Amino acid sequence: MRRLTVELPGRAYPVLVGAGARHRLGEVLPAGAGRAAIVTQENIPWAVDTGIEQKTFVMGDGEPEKNLETVEELCRGFARWGLHRHDVVVAVGGGVVTDVAGFAAAVYHRGVRVVHVPTSLLGQVDAAIGGKTGVNLPEGKNLVGAFWQPEAVLCDTETLATLAPREYRSGLGEMAKYAFLGVDGLRDLALDEAVAACVACKAAIVSGDERESGSRALLNYGHTLAHALETAGSYDLRHGEAVAIGLVFAARLAECLGRIGPQRVAEHRDLVSSYDLPVEVPPGLAAAELVTIMGRDKKASGDDLTFVLDSSRGLEVVPHIPAATVTEVLEETLR
Ligand code: GLY
Repeated sequence: MRRLTVELPGRAYPVLVGAGARHRLGEVLPAGAGRAAIVTQENIPWAVDTGIEQKTFVMGDGEPEKNLETVEELCRGFARWGLHRHDVVVAVGGGVVTDVAGFAAAVYHRGVRVVHVPTSLLGQVDAAIGGKTGVNLPEGKNLVGAFWQPEAVLCDTETLATLAPREYRSGLGEMAKYAFLGVDGLRDLALDEAVAACVACKAAIVSGDERESGSRALLNYGHTLAHALETAGSYDLRHGEAVAIGLVFAARLAECLGRIGPQRVAEHRDLVSSYDLPVEVPPGLAAAELVTIMGRDKKASGDDLTFVLDSSRGLEVVPHIPAATVTEVLEETLR
């Protein structure tokens, strides 16, 4: 079992990575918690035993369930059961579950402690680590949320064996991002090691910039277009599939802006394709609509867009990219 730490002032927390990590819940439950509200979905086959009184709250399946109504239902369920401020929420599932349960924990009683047990690859390498929680609005992804750090994260790699192939590949899209954030040789690592390497990379970035006032934004590589694709396509794409397309698009945009050469764009395309993930924007989406949605992104300003882009110095946050340039590169891709 690998033990990593997200170092935050006064609030460091462990991330355990390895087969059977979910059985370590008893070790990481916060002191004083008398009851545990387990938030999960019908199709998650992983039972957990907290060793204290527990009750399971089942939320709906899929990205459309990541909304304020689900948070309200969960909080009302917690209240009816009598979950108190010193108790704990345990989220067992993929990124949708940890995002929603984390947000419900952040707002219920103005904040109860939460432990994440991510059971998807995407959740283990990204969503469950770092304290971002939230839900979508019809206007865009993750527009309502809170930073709410978990007490611990248990990445049980045993749970990855039963993922549907498309779900697993979606996680690889998020994993591919870490190759461009400096994790070397990702493709050659055994699964446990690869998950731990991504967690270590994310933990280091989050430790340096918890609230995304600087370097944490690099974790959004590939996400500006990805979120717009998911919103415009009514979530037909899995998040990791959209990120895969977003990574290749970001490389093309960086090339158009003279930041990288065609060889580096090819490296992006090759890595994404090697994971059997899509590289092209799906047909039927209009560049103008995607750019409008990107303009509503939390990182946009006025008519200009902000992207994380590659360069010879590595990834950088690049503000003030004219919407017209982004539209032009998108239109070329859509041709
Ligand atoms: N998923 C990006 C972040 O946690 O900052």
